[in-house]
Amino acid sequence: MMHNSINMDHHWLPFTNNKLFHKEPQIFARAEGVRYWTPEGNEILDGASGLFCCPAGHGRREIADAVHAQLLELDYSPHFQRAAPVSFALAERLAAILPDGIDRVFFGSSGSEAVDSAMKIAIAYHRAKGDAQRTRFVSRSWAYHGVNLGGTSLAGMVGNRREYSGITCDVVHMRHTWNEDQRFTRGQPETGAELAEDLADLCRTYGGETIAAVFVEPIAGSIGTIVPPVGYLKRLREIADENGILLIFDEVITGFGRTGSAFASQEFAVTPDIITMAKALTNGSVPMSAVAVKTEIQQAVLDAITADRPELMHGYTYSAHPVACAAALATLDIYEKDGLFARSKALSQTFLDGVFGLRNLPQVADLRGYGMMSGIQLKPGSVPGEKGSIIQRLLFKEGLHLKATGDALIFAPAFVSSEKDIGRMLEVLQKVLGRADH
Ligand SMILES: Cc1ncc(COP(=O)(O)O)c(C=O)c1O
Repeated sequence: MMHNSINMDHHWLPFTNNKLFHKEPQIFARAEGVRYWTPEGNEILDGASGLFCCPAGHGRREIADAVHAQLLELDYSPHFQRAAPVSFALAERLAAILPDGIDRVFFGSSGSEAVDSAMKIAIAYHRAKGDAQRTRFVSRSWAYHGVNLGGTSLAGMVGNRREYSGITCDVVHMRHTWNEDQRFTRGQPETGAELAEDLADLCRTYGGETIAAVFVEPIAGSIGTIVPPVGYLKRLREIADENGILLIFDEVITGFGRTGSAFASQEFAVTPDIITMAKALTNGSVPMSAVAVKTEIQQAVLDAITADRPELMHGYTYSAHPVACAAALATLDIYEKDGLFARSKALSQTFLDGVFGLRNLPQVADLRGYGMMSGIQLKPGSVPGEKGSIIQRLLFKEGLHLKATGDALIFAPAFVSSEKDIGRMLEVLQKVLGRADH
């Protein structure tokens, strides 16, 4: 299958209907700022920061220069019993912006790796404390925690788990927090905090002493931006504490300013024990992820080992890759220098005004939003998910890139977007969602 002299036969695209894609390819050939261009030169506004990973906009020269310099200085170094200065510098920088007390950082290359690493760290911690029976995890309906086997087991978007049941691990699920009363709620819903009691119920059913950790996305991103009810995360924290369970916030989407604070933990004033992050860590430029843990979690694991062997039997060839570290340091410099977390907070008002202005369009069934992320729930077609796919392709044709999951669109532009850029993105949405005939 050829498209504009690109041979598309050999690359099997992830999370894609490859047959449909070959018939109707939607390809990005170039990017700058908040715009992509197709190989034909058509401009596509980036309404999803790539995949929520490029809040500082595309083509940042500072990152490119740092990556280039690092490749020439130290292109690769192993991190098993060896290290490079650049990863210590990055871990220190992250510790400075993370919630107080969460200051020990393990690196990987993707959000999925961060999630699986966090699961292993939770198990190692409990084992170190003499609690080796804590092997079960709690997740939530509609959750997305990546696609490695740990994350697949945690999946609450059931389509991502259904076909892999034979290879998943022991996870039980709480209910998600969305309910009918929340339709068209801007910010945190007032109802639904009592759903945190699901964690207490699961502790009674399975024995709290068998549970290692509870994973939540502070704002459930991939399902279409489900904002936590007021008081919900705080109550999860309390129940986790009462039962000796680690609370893990998966901040792969919410990290690095998406909510207006560096991390959603700070925004919602609830401190977990472990935070996973990826995506915006390098502004999407080089694959990288991290797991940040409380000081005492690492200390307990270190203290449990007396022989000369690694205390955590886990790591990747590309853990703390020097080039990724250099990209991350340059990215953190941009966030700081350009005040991008504050910019995200300031821009959120205009952004959410625009999003909630879509309320009466014929295709819109619900709107949700917080900070610089929002979910547009579409009126479903005859087959679940089909409407999302149709609308996503139409938006592209009209010049706007958004992420679609099922029948929800996720609209989360870069923090460097101008008000005019956001206005243009909304115009495309008005046009496509304003038609009743899709
Ligand atoms: C909350 C969350 N966790 C984990 C992941 C997986 O990250 P990756 O695709 O980099 O493996 C994602 C990806 O969207 C995510 O949103």
